[in-house]
Amino acid sequence: MSSIQPRRGRYHPVLREMLAETHLALSNFMVPLFIKAGNDIKNPIPGMPGHFQWSLNLLKDKILALEDSGLKSLLLFGIPHHKDATGSAADHDHGILEEALQAIKSWAPQMFVATDVCFCQYTDHGHCGILNQRQELDNSLSLERIASQALSHAQAGADMVAPSGMLDGAVGAIRATLDHHGFGHLPIMGYTVKYASSLYGPFRQATEGAPKFGDRRSHQADFRNGFEAIREAALDIQEGADILMVKPAHTYLDIIQRLTATFPEMPLAAYHTSGEYAMLQAAIGQGWIQPEAILEVLTAIKRAGARIIISYFAEEMPQLFKRSCL
Ligand code: PBG
Ligand code: ZN
Repeated sequence: MSSIQPRRGRYHPVLREMLAETHLALSNFMVPLFIKAGNDIKNPIPGMPGHFQWSLNLLKDKILALEDSGLKSLLLFGIPHHKDATGSAADHDHGILEEALQAIKSWAPQMFVATDVCFCQYTDHGHCGILNQRQELDNSLSLERIASQALSHAQAGADMVAPSGMLDGAVGAIRATLDHHGFGHLPIMGYTVKYASSLYGPFRQATEGAPKFGDRRSHQADFRNGFEAIREAALDIQEGADILMVKPAHTYLDIIQRLTATFPEMPLAAYHTSGEYAMLQAAIGQGWIQPEAILEVLTAIKRAGARIIISYFAEEMPQLFKRSCL
């Protein structure tokens, strides 16, 4: 009697390697960086061991080290000096990200540098756009500012812009403004489905962008919902998004898979968030789980369908690839 034995494909390590469906590569990763206005700043971020707020005058070696390790893609977040109700520092010629773009491009011209487009770091109330008289996030007032911020990044040399506020129509508004000003070639990565999550805590400390009152549930998606993700993706595609994103990642693999299955023609990114990083780092730091868990989690995100992984672990990947000793 013939026997069917899946184990025959697993005995030999070389065969296992040939048969593996999913391979993480450094080229899948984007490195998030927090850039703070000022001088001589390298502030450790609580909950994110190994990560810092950087001022530009200390950043050069960091950028060169990233490039040396084979990482070629950055996602920048700015922390400005000045915050006010309309986030006026967010679209300044000499704003923090505008200056960062110019500096990074001068140190590492080959780097792909994307920027976060949102207002929570730039407003004194910490919301992702402009508030109306009822103190609610106003969609149309905000879109104008968001488009202007994206244009300012484009003019300063950004290779891609990524609106993270989950406001309706943001991708479309940015696309129209970029096209109108001669940036028709510049891609937009929409934060297509960003859930209102408790996993952003360390990030909000890093960017000093927590809301001063209320929360983000009027615009970010409800974590009980999956179909909503499909609706958001359809809209981003219609508005001209080049890349879709799911965020958080580890806890939303089903959403990554659903978007991959529903829109297989669209490249998908996944944001492995600060809270997801903190959970793994904490357990690894205690010696409760092995660092290989990082590879397992990030591979699962790729297996589910993400081609780009935005992760605070990006810098650890070369070491982890070696440790996994295949
Ligand atoms: C703000 C923004 C957040 C993150 C990226 N952009 C936090 C929030 O919505 O409050 C989270 C990233 C992370 O946790 O790593 N628009
Ligand atoms: Zn925001």
